[in-house]
Amino acid sequence: MIKNTTLRYGLVAMIFHWLSALIIIFMFGLGIYMMDLPYGHPYEQTSFNLHQSIGMSFFILWTLRIIWRLINVSPKLDEAITTFKKFEKLSVHVVHTVLYLLMFVMLFSGYLLAITDGSGYSFTFWGWFEVPSFGEFFEQRADLAGLIHEFVSWVLIGLASIHALAALKHHFIDKDDTLKKMLPKKHNQEK
Ligand code: HEM
Ligand code: HEM
Repeated sequence: MIKNTTLRYGLVAMIFHWLSALIIIFMFGLGIYMMDLPYGHPYEQTSFNLHQSIGMSFFILWTLRIIWRLINVSPKLDEAITTFKKFEKLSVHVVHTVLYLLMFVMLFSGYLLAITDGSGYSFTFWGWFEVPSFGEFFEQRADLAGLIHEFVSWVLIGLASIHALAALKHHFIDKDDTLKKMLPKKHNQEK
């Protein structure tokens, strides 16, 4: 099933979800690695280029994901789970929305950093073309964007970890369909 149904996520939403999760984890590791490299290290330029090119590709992926999210139905929380209290339902929506927002903050602050960091106020997209600066936005944007980028990366990883632990709890302890909704359907599985 390509599209979502009210019972489960479709293939496109699953690919968006798992690809985004992999990219975020990889980008977090790469970000810390490249900041630890001594100035002028032979891998410095390559790792910055890689981080920024993957980052801008992720910007495109994030935009497509939001559009797909808006034009699709969302699977309902499992009504069979009687333990799902109103508060829990609300917090699931809040966490998902905040995760989307944090991803955007990472992407935009990263972009601001990248156009300020280099010498020419632009940076390369896979060596294919230069991503330009669209303006100054605000003063001292490098300092502020740097602080935001570093701080929010930890918040995003922290919240995503809690979110993943919650999904695993539903799967292994509550034994409900929460995680199965985000995984390809086995042919003998009912929903
Ligand atoms: C989900 C996406 C992203 C994650 C998780 C991420 C993560 C990180 C992390 C952990 C650091 C090191 C921060 C520090 O210790 O100061 C970093 C640095 C950096 N990131 Fe990202 N990043 C993302 C997206 C982007 C994007 C889209 C760009 C630009 C196109 C970008 C450009 C940079 C730059 C230029 C630095 C170096 C900062 C400096 O020189 O102070 N990042 N990133
Ligand atoms: C960086 C890592 C991750 C991020 C940013 C992330 C983000 C999200 C977002 C935004 C949604 C809402 C999808 C929508 O309805 O639009 C979602 C759903 C979901 N995620 Fe993640 N996720 C991450 C990692 C994981 C991991 C590692 C697991 C499993 C162990 C997981 C399990 C799920 C499940 C089961 C759902 C569906 C929940 C439901 O609708 O009840 N996620 N995720």
